[in-house]
Amino acid sequence: MQTILITGGAGFIGSHLTRHFVTKYPSYKIVNVDALTYAGNLKNLKDIEHLPNYHFIKGDITDIKLIEELFTEHQFTAVLHCAAESHVDRSITDPLAFVKTNVLGTSTLLQVAKESWKNNFSDKVFYHISTDEVYGSLGTEGFFYETTPYDPRSPYSASKASSDHMVRAFYHTYNFPIKISNCSNNYGPFHFPEKLIPLSINNIIHNKSLPIYGAGENIRDWLFVEDHVKAIDIIYHKGKIGETYNIGGYNEWKNIDLIKELCRQMDIKLNRPAGTSETLITFVKDRAGHDLRYAIDASKLKNELGWEPSLQFEEGLSRTIDWYLNNKDWLEEVTSGTYRKYYDKMYANN
Ligand code: NAD
Ligand code: DAU
Repeated sequence: MQTILITGGAGFIGSHLTRHFVTKYPSYKIVNVDALTYAGNLKNLKDIEHLPNYHFIKGDITDIKLIEELFTEHQFTAVLHCAAESHVDRSITDPLAFVKTNVLGTSTLLQVAKESWKNNFSDKVFYHISTDEVYGSLGTEGFFYETTPYDPRSPYSASKASSDHMVRAFYHTYNFPIKISNCSNNYGPFHFPEKLIPLSINNIIHNKSLPIYGAGENIRDWLFVEDHVKAIDIIYHKGKIGETYNIGGYNEWKNIDLIKELCRQMDIKLNRPAGTSETLITFVKDRAGHDLRYAIDASKLKNELGWEPSLQFEEGLSRTIDWYLNNKDWLEEVTSGTYRKYYDKMYANN
């Protein structure tokens, strides 16, 4: 019987991951620990909260006493560690929050799991979910490989790189059973509207300007969130202990081109004349230290474990827009209150 601790299961990727494991593996007991920060939302899990193999605990991963108690009570056989502060812009204004959750929180989980598993690591897995941003920024050519040296350049990516290093340090020092994956930009339902795609969908709905940093020339490699979750499933079950796997969409878009495609699709879906939404595009002050380009080489994952992205971007984007248009209550709720304060402060001078 597997008992899995998922951290950050009420967030964007975490909620998809939790739903996937709870519904696909009814014999696994899944315990979701989430602090319910501004980014965590139990509404993301409404459809599965009644299932008998799903349990939620509100808690902070930096709270060592709580994490120890949970390990004692549930005797976890694995951890899928998703909880993090995840937004680059917020890391620029509040780096210490990122150090606390991403570095101290990850280290706390590692230490408690190591002690709880008492050096009997057989059949245990600590799976750390990480980002391609640890590799730094690419020029116009080339890809990030698992062997690319780390070169994080924002407080967010530096905190994720630090957490990756701690995870690997536990593997090398204690033979602790880890797996790591580093994924490119995700998109899809339940994505918090501080990030480019859901923020722009929300603004188009409300006829608000679409803030594009700098000249919109920065490039990201976009992957539908359910494809990320399928990759995590395969790595969790079939990946090798101690290994790192890159996950990516082979789907690079300049921000400006992506927003134009979003505008095109939304004009059709909202029955607005072609070109209406594009007039909302506004070039604003660039993000400090803005990484130019990310692009993942995911051939190790394909060659060793057979994973490939399943969805074309235009279709994934269409499904994503439809989800937001059909879930306006969700969008209204998460963009009221503190979100408005964040938005007004963040985009004040534009
Ligand atoms: P998110 O911000 O949507 O969700 C993070 C979740 O973690 C929230 O539910 C939040 O309440 C919870 N959380 C934050 N601090 C916590 C703490 N101290 N204790 C317990 N819970 C806490 O993030 P996301 O976009 O879903 O990202 C999830 C993970 O995937 C992160 O580790 C991130 O670095 C990684 N990742 C994200 C992307 C992406 O494009 N979003 C890509 C690659 C990797
Ligand atoms: O690459 C993986 C990373 O992708 C994850 O590790 C992060 O958790 C996730 O937030 C994401 O980081 P990005 O910084 O790439 O995502 P974001 O949606 O914030 O920005 C995408 C691009 O769009 C980036 O080049 C900045 C730009 N942007 C973003 C916002 C919010 C704008 O031009 N305007 C905006 O208002």
